Amino acid sequence: MKFDPGEMDMQAVYKLLTGLVVPRPIGWASTRSPEGVDNLAPFSFFIAITPSPPHVAISVGQREGQMKDTLRNVRHTGDFVINTVSSEVVEQMNTTSGDWPPDSSEFAVSGLTPVPSDVVTPARVAEAPASMECLVRQIVPVGGPPYGAHLIIGEVVRFHVRDDLVLERGRIDQRRLQAVGRLAGAGYCSTDDQFELERPQVGEARSLGGQR
Ligand SMILES: Cc1cc2nc3c(=O)[nH]c(=O)nc-3n(C[C@H](O)[C@H](O)[C@H](O)COP(=O)(O)O)c2cc1C
Repeated sequence: MKFDPGEMDMQAVYKLLTGLVVPRPIGWASTRSPEGVDNLAPFSFFIAITPSPPHVAISVGQREGQMKDTLRNVRHTGDFVINTVSSEVVEQMNTTSGDWPPDSSEFAVSGLTPVPSDVVTPARVAEAPASMECLVRQIVPVGGPPYGAHLIIGEVVRFHVRDDLVLERGRIDQRRLQAVGRLAGAGYCSTDDQFELERPQVGEARSLGGQR
């Protein structure tokens, strides 16, 4: 079948995008409101951009034409934290995705523990296996009303990783990490079923020692 997004309504296009761009990692973003409330919400439109220096991005859409708390907060403080979602915290992650009002902290409603960050204003999630403290570098509006989004690009200025996850030469133990991916709608996947593929060696040109 072929689909012309120009002829479709937003919900139908959303189903195509979220059903085809899978599995998506989940960036669980903590921010702090101008009133000092610790906010937490998951974003599966989430990517790592470059390690040099490290940058990541989340795409924050609108809620009934209104700005989500995460965008409002990062515009105010200029920073955020991305926490990793593992199978141990997936239920709490889901709780934090509710339309909680700006004056209620998703840490409190989901029973999670805020830990002060080293560099940035927002707290990180104690129960998450890893967190990245980020300074906002760019906020890029993408698309238009009524469903356009803002791509929030942040530079990672501190990584926190649970000790037992760090292997020799800085590799992360993917079996222990138990990261969770998002599929479409209420669908998720685990990272239990893993396999390896060696990259082909072609000529001398190699980036990052052939690891990318
Ligand atoms: C797994 C998951 C992934 C989500 N990904 C996104 C996303 O990429 N962009 C977005 O705008 N909302 C996304 N949402 C919805 C937000 O988490 C939700 O609107 C949340 O209430 C926003 O919180 P805030 O107002 O505190 O920023 C996602 C929800 C779930 C459960």
